Formats: sequence, structure tokens, C-alpha cells
Amino acid sequence: MPNSSSITHDFEWPQEGVTRVPYRVFSDEQIYQAEQEKIFKGPTWNYLCLEVDLDEVNTSVTGWIGETPIIVSRDGEGKIHAFVNRCSHKGALVCLEKKHRGSVLTCVYHAWTYDLKGKLRGVAFRKGIHGSGGMPEDFSEDRHALQAIRITVFAGIVFGTFSDQTPPIQEYLGVEAAEFLGSSMQGDLKVLGRHSQIIHNNWKLYAENVRDTYHATLLHTFYTSFKINRLDMDGGILLSPSKLHAISYSKKRTWTENAEYADAQVHSAKYESRLENPQLLQAWDERPHGITHSIQTVFPTLVSQFTLNSLAVRVYLPKGVDKTELLWIFLGKKSDTLEQESIRVRQANLTGAAGLVALEDGCINEFVQRGTRSASEQSSFIEMGGHGFDSNTASRATETAVRGFWHGYRGLMGY
Ligand code: FES
Ligand SMILES: [Fe+2]
Repeated sequence: MPNSSSITHDFEWPQEGVTRVPYRVFSDEQIYQAEQEKIFKGPTWNYLCLEVDLDEVNTSVTGWIGETPIIVSRDGEGKIHAFVNRCSHKGALVCLEKKHRGSVLTCVYHAWTYDLKGKLRGVAFRKGIHGSGGMPEDFSEDRHALQAIRITVFAGIVFGTFSDQTPPIQEYLGVEAAEFLGSSMQGDLKVLGRHSQIIHNNWKLYAENVRDTYHATLLHTFYTSFKINRLDMDGGILLSPSKLHAISYSKKRTWTENAEYADAQVHSAKYESRLENPQLLQAWDERPHGITHSIQTVFPTLVSQFTLNSLAVRVYLPKGVDKTELLWIFLGKKSDTLEQESIRVRQANLTGAAGLVALEDGCINEFVQRGTRSASEQSSFIEMGGHGFDSNTASRATETAVRGFWHGYRGLMGY
């Protein structure tokens, strides 16, 4: 079996740097395995669940860090813990439910039982039967706890890391990203609904796609036709100091007809479409500074999205080198009026698996996967907006956040 250091031997990033991404990174099994170690078990904060998912004491939810199954629990005293969902006996999943109520977790295989701090509390037939069999004298529950995961709670989100090198979350995010995430997720959150979709592409194609401010105005024709998010609105891109995380934002009311849109290539700018029910786009001003659309990415796999009043969290989970599960959680605030809640629910149709944007992004990422898998020695060309990866508050006609992602990725992977 090659180890991760042997992988780097025959893999070299193109000399042009982050303006080129070797297609191999989307289909190479060894690179995918190395990512599990260096990124998902490395110095990164990973989304585990929402704080509101653990709404009561003695509740647990399951999730993933990369391909590692995890459990997040709120114990009887209200304290949150996270551990690997892998029994200390023979490695079976301990919790099989998405959400479990109860003060213990019992593995179905041989009934080893854990408390919500992850400590082993009971072993069936520990003393054997009729004085025969059972565990040896030196067996101690204390040595067989579930593997603990370091956690932090920020902006209503429970994050976890396997590394003690991961800096505190606010430092990890940087000042601007921490403030923006805090403001998007502020207030008492309420889950309005959730769903998931399997997309047939490498997880990094989705990470690129959500940082790619250049495509939204072109691929997402609904956005352009109905002037929800277009490059001819004021907006910008903010990159964190590490370049791993990005925020793109736009302001609908600043839209002015722009000469570049007269170009026939922006075909949807000329659509003569009309909504059967214009209520879909009915919205109220909610964000500061006139922002009406924002996409915030938190490396490695989290997105916080605000489209008009539709607040959602997306998480894209790697499920193999060419398969990703995309989770969508649509959110409201407990303080919302019924009218505000119904506006948020209606606007969930703008995105989501049965909506417009998710369908298009799911397709386009798979088109890239299919187009590139037989060309592992070739690379993409990412020079829109230049070669750098700095914030740009003047234009979103740039791939700066995509280059920033690859800059951060290369640093973590040692490429
Ligand atoms: S594998 Fe869990 S009790 Fe045996
Ligand atoms: Fe998109």
C-alpha cells in the first residue's frame, strides 16, 4: 500500500501554480485517501451538526468528518460531546439512527453500552455465564471509551477536529468570516426542512463550484432572468487570511443594465420570462448593507447561504473519489412571524435538490467529472480576474476564491 508520502513523489502541481488544477486530483484514489488523513483528520474544523439539532438533553445525532462516522451528543447536564461512531469492541457503528433519544448508546452487535460522554459503561456477559467465560480480570472499561473528537460551538454550529493543531475557530475563520457567519446565523435558529442529494463528482468540484462567482450569472439562468444575483449588481468576494474560506455577496437593488450583458452569450439576460406566481421573489430587507445574496464557504465542506430570505446550510460529504452527498438544511428564526416563515419556505424553491440552483450545479459538476477523468495529466485554466487570490470588493468576474481554495489545499496536502 503506498503511504501518503509516496503519493507526493509522482505528483507535482503544474509550475503555473493555482491557475492550473491537475484533473488528476478529481479522480485519483490515492490522492482521495491522502485527503482523508491530511484534510479531514488534519488541522481543519469540520461541520458536525447544528446546535439546535441537540435540542434536548440526552440526545445524540450522527454525522461524518470526511469518511469517518461520528456521533455528537448532549449529555444529561446539557454538555456537548463528539466521538467517532465506531465501537471499541470490533468497530461496528454504535449509533444507527440520524437522531437518538436516550442517555446511553448500545452497539447492536454484542451490546457494549456507552454513555453520552463516550465512556464504556457496560459489557454484556462481562462475568461470563455460570462462572465461566467473560472478560479477563484486567479488563477495564476505562480503556475502551469511544474515540473523542475535539469540538467547538460557533454561530449555532458544532464543529469538530481530530487535530490538536487546529487553531481556535475564530482564528481559523479569520475576523471577517467569523463576523459574517455570526451575523448570518444569529438569533434562535429553527430548522424548516432538510434534504440531501447524491452528486456524482469529487467533493472538491463542489468546493470549487461554491467559490466560483463567475458561473452564477451564466449557468443559473433563473438568477439572471429574474435579477436575483448577477455580476452587474454591486458585490464582492472576501477571502480569509488562510484563503481557505470565502464570502461572495451581492446587492440586488444596485442592479443597472450593463453593456456586457447585451453580449448574446449571456443568453438568459434577454429572456422574456414572467413568473406565474411573483410571490416566489417577495422578500424583506434582512441583511446589513443592502446585501441580498451571499454564499459563505468554510473549508473543508461547509456553506452558509442567504438568497433573499432563504437561509440554508449546505454540507458536502465525500463518499468516494467520484461521489459526494450534499446535505441541505433550510433555516428560519424562532422569532419569525408566520408570514416571514412562509416566505423563507417558498424561497427554498430557488435552491435545494428540487429547486433550480442545486439541479444545475449537480449536473455541471458531474459534467466536469465525466469530462476530466480520462485526462489525468491535463489541467484546468483558472485565470479569470488574474493570477492572485486576494479579496475583490469591486467585481465578482473573477476566480480569485477558487484560486484561494487551491492555495490552501496545496498547503495542507503538501503539494
Ligand atoms: S462490535 Fe460493538 S459490541 Fe461488538
Ligand atoms: Fe452554482
